[in-house]
Amino acid sequence: MIEVQNGVFHLRESGWSYLFRATEQGLLEHLHFGAPVSIQDAPALAVKPGMGWGMAVTPNEADGALCPDTLPLEWSGAGRGDYRESPMEVWDGDVPLPAEFRYADYQIFEGTARLQSGLPQAGGGLQTLAVTLRAGALPLTLTLYYTDFGGVLTRRAVLKNESRRTLTVRKLMSWCVDLVGEYGLTTFDGGWIGEARRHVTPVEAARVVNESTAGFSSNRHNPGFLLAGKGAGEDCGDVYGFNLIYSGNHYASAQRSFQGLTRVMQGVSPALFCAVLAPGGTFETPEGVLAYSGAGFNGLSAAMHRFVNGHIIPPAWRYRPRPVLFNDWEGCMFDFDQRRLLELAGRAKKQGAELFVLDDGWFGARNSDRAGLGDYGVNEKKLPEGLGGFAGKLAGLGLNFGLWFEPEAVNPDSGLYRAHPDWAIHQPGRSDLLSRHELLLDLRKEAVRDYIVDSVTEVLNSADIRYVKWDMNRQSVLTGAAAHEYILGLYDVLRRIFAPRPDILLESCSSGGNRFDLGMLCFSPQIWCSDNTDPMERLQIQGGLSYLYPQSCMGAHVSAAPHAQTLRATPLSTRGNVSFFGALGYELDLKALRPVEAREIKAQIAFYKAHRDTFQFGAFSRLPAPEGWTGWQVRSERETLAGFFRGLVPAAPGIVKLRVSGLDNNRRYRVRARPQTLRVGDFGNLVKYLSPVRVNPDGPLLRAADGLYALPDGREDFTATGAALMAGFAPAALFTGTGYDKNSHNQGDFGSEIYVISEERGHD
Ligand code: DGJ
Repeated sequence: MIEVQNGVFHLRESGWSYLFRATEQGLLEHLHFGAPVSIQDAPALAVKPGMGWGMAVTPNEADGALCPDTLPLEWSGAGRGDYRESPMEVWDGDVPLPAEFRYADYQIFEGTARLQSGLPQAGGGLQTLAVTLRAGALPLTLTLYYTDFGGVLTRRAVLKNESRRTLTVRKLMSWCVDLVGEYGLTTFDGGWIGEARRHVTPVEAARVVNESTAGFSSNRHNPGFLLAGKGAGEDCGDVYGFNLIYSGNHYASAQRSFQGLTRVMQGVSPALFCAVLAPGGTFETPEGVLAYSGAGFNGLSAAMHRFVNGHIIPPAWRYRPRPVLFNDWEGCMFDFDQRRLLELAGRAKKQGAELFVLDDGWFGARNSDRAGLGDYGVNEKKLPEGLGGFAGKLAGLGLNFGLWFEPEAVNPDSGLYRAHPDWAIHQPGRSDLLSRHELLLDLRKEAVRDYIVDSVTEVLNSADIRYVKWDMNRQSVLTGAAAHEYILGLYDVLRRIFAPRPDILLESCSSGGNRFDLGMLCFSPQIWCSDNTDPMERLQIQGGLSYLYPQSCMGAHVSAAPHAQTLRATPLSTRGNVSFFGALGYELDLKALRPVEAREIKAQIAFYKAHRDTFQFGAFSRLPAPEGWTGWQVRSERETLAGFFRGLVPAAPGIVKLRVSGLDNNRRYRVRARPQTLRVGDFGNLVKYLSPVRVNPDGPLLRAADGLYALPDGREDFTATGAALMAGFAPAALFTGTGYDKNSHNQGDFGSEIYVISEERGHD
């Protein structure tokens, strides 16, 4: 809800308020971002600068206290007395314009004000406030848009050149705000196979920056970040969350002033940026997302998850169950033909998969990553019946068909490149910078966009394709406005291909999570989080992403161990348990499985399907957990599912208590650990003592038994009140040495459990 009274603007979100006002001088003074208040509280919320601070620079000497440098503001100019970082820079030729913006008027619309430049945008806004500012003598108009989504608000800016001269925009943030107080900045940073690592940096006098200049939102620094007040924890304290609906170079900064104001802003990265603003032209920023929770990080995540599921994901996929998929990449890489694929598909179907994804290598001369990218003609040696024939065979097995593309890139060794070398991005006078033997196509060019749209469309029309994996495996060499135009080109291509095909499930990917952002999520309901499928790594990657993105949009696959990315061996049960907290898939050579593993996978998929709604769309929280453990929970009206994951386990581990959250203190719940098994081989030398006859643990008998038989592990089934479960229940003991007890958890390092908790009268 948006209210306006006497120049005070109040955006009332569920659970919090955002207030600002136009001062007499026309500055936009930020009043409050936090717990719900009333618009009448504005005078109480306004800061009282008293006599102000020395050295004030102000347009009105008599009003020294109303210096723009020391007020909390919603926006600021440049070169006009506010010496903090400016959210904008506009130049007239080689002269920077000293801009200051003063309030002119406002408008309120029902719903959302549409973006004009092709940037994606959140859908289903309730109301939009547009505040117009003018730059005094300068012919510039700035409109700040605020849209209320009920639990988050979005902000963006549009700058219009009202002059007859061509100006250039070197920086224009989507939003800027000054908050009173001290904060810690949480960012999600990393690189290939190590995405979304959480880092906390105190915001002090020196500016801290979260930025990507790689051409894409990047795995280096996710655009989403948080600011937390002192003492905030997972379930308590003030936490602000911010994100940007954009997939290109982004920038955010936070810095605390001498007066204790933390200025924070976010938008397209200004690095080497310079966009031409023709007379009468406008520059429009991407939409930024702002949210607050007084209930800690989990509260903030809940608001962001609801927003992504309800307003970012394409309408046809909002709250629509994601299929369990099998992807052939880690199992086959480039080495496959139809026979091998169908054999895998048959097995995948038996295990319970619903969708078969044919990854890289199905077209042209694409038998390695060195050649063929760009030529989307089927490789008939591998697929003699074409995609249509292959899809038909899959349909016969009862599986849907999904297909991989990497349409933005080209191998120089390809027909496309030989025909159109100028379609790739080159830097005049410079050698090409190749990465994974590929160059990016120049999506700023209409002919290139048309080629991509036509070639992908032709393939999509040639077979019954229900899912597309849209990959992109390199960083860009484009900078500044050129990189921005590339991203606009990408959005155009995605819109033209997929808007007419809303039921195709698009999963975007960029060497894993190199483009995990709200811009891509406006087109692709899920994103492949990382090429790293080691569950211990995934706890960090999916755990990091969970602060801002819901589990429904995280592609999470079970792969073979030892893992190709870490050489770490982890239990199959844990690989499943971690992947359950996402859009589940399997990506391994099913033919190489021991029967005992095949049975386990079948049980995993059946379990996931039975609880799919809760796993994909339930309310997610990070649980308090003992040192060295990780706890995640999802909760729906029907049930609570709590996962506890261990790292290295010490010898003779001690006693722990596990806590879940969100239950009713007085109700009684039944708690069951998901049935798991232990492979005979996992029991090492100890099997000698379990077996009634003398056996050699390395001998053929036990090797055969290891493939065929599993032991029950860690069975738990009990009832307790919500109060006890939230205070902390004692789980079954961990393995403490030299014996087998089916009621203990015997997995050792990297073991985990999932508890299904349902009200006693209910059932799962
Ligand atoms: C990188 C992706 O992240 C992988 O999942 C796979 O699709 C390969 N590309 C294929 O080349």
